[in-house]
Amino acid sequence: MKSATSLLRILIFIGLAVLIIEYTSEESLMETLNANPVLWAVLGMILLFAIAMEVILYTLRTLLFRGLSLDAQEKYLAAEADRQDKQFGWWKRTYKKLVGGRPMAEEHEIILDHNYDGIKELDNRLPPWWVYGFYATILFAVIYLARYHIFDGTDQAGEYLQEVAAAQLEIAEYKRNNKDLVDVSTVELLTDPADLSAGKAIFTELCVACHKADGGGGIGPNLTDNYWILGGGIKNVFNTIMEGGRDGKGMISWKSELNPGEVAQVSSYLLQFEGTIPAEPKAPEGEIWIDPDAPQTGTEEILLQVVDSTAASVIDNE
Ligand code: HEC
Repeated sequence: MKSATSLLRILIFIGLAVLIIEYTSEESLMETLNANPVLWAVLGMILLFAIAMEVILYTLRTLLFRGLSLDAQEKYLAAEADRQDKQFGWWKRTYKKLVGGRPMAEEHEIILDHNYDGIKELDNRLPPWWVYGFYATILFAVIYLARYHIFDGTDQAGEYLQEVAAAQLEIAEYKRNNKDLVDVSTVELLTDPADLSAGKAIFTELCVACHKADGGGGIGPNLTDNYWILGGGIKNVFNTIMEGGRDGKGMISWKSELNPGEVAQVSSYLLQFEGTIPAEPKAPEGEIWIDPDAPQTGTEEILLQVVDSTAASVIDNE
């Protein structure tokens, strides 16, 4: 018993140390330990320390015990046994109840008539822990059957889909509340009318002087065609507005004036110009930009699209 409690104390000690490491670091326990090998040494020291404490405690106790008179030793032992009995009494009684064995003295009552070469058989009752466990499985089976086969509960695949849907809602909510966390690698085209009208307000205030209200272009290039100097699509446009155009061309970096959320809004707004026909379109500049992430279309189709849009503007100009 003594050594069992010692062991328990040592384990609790180490467990505490491990828990502290786990809670004070962001990464998982193993990652933290591997990243800081010194921690292994610290854990080792703690283990040694805990063992040393137990050894010292044990030695002290033995020394004191030996110092006692025989009478006192006996009294001490009796008190100790009594204490242990009280301490673990409940556990011991429960354990006995669950095992449900009959005491050796009563074995003659349950002995069976089977005798094989002197090996006899006792007619013990099933141990209560086993019986209760068995009842529990029956109950479980009934509930399980009712839930999944009678009332058609959601199965694992369904639960997974539900969780994914819930998580997606949370992500959308998070993005809505943290618009400024976007950067060029995470920015996405916004479609929410509120975002687009905020983008329009920014565009009207800061950009129309050079790009015109309809995006037709002036000092700045035409934003309505599919020709882009610095690349089209939300990511390139976001990047251009954040970092500015080529040196000396007149398009400054707007990141000191606009925060990333606002840049995403104005980018999404101006991307709506593409394909519209402005009052005085500036001649295309740059190159036709093809979204590398778009589903592949054949070259012919792209050429057709280009011919189409030129035809449209010719008709419009007439
Ligand atoms: C002082 C004039 C001026 C203002 C104001 C201005 N731009 Fe520009 N913008 C330009 C010029 C000039 C270019 C071409 C840059 C280059 O050639 O590198 C350009 C390029 C761009 C491009 C890239 C076009 C392409 O073909 O790659 C985008 C997108 C753009 N501007 C958006 C904006 C937005 C949004 C605002 C308002 C926040 C704005 N601009 C304000 C002058 C301006």
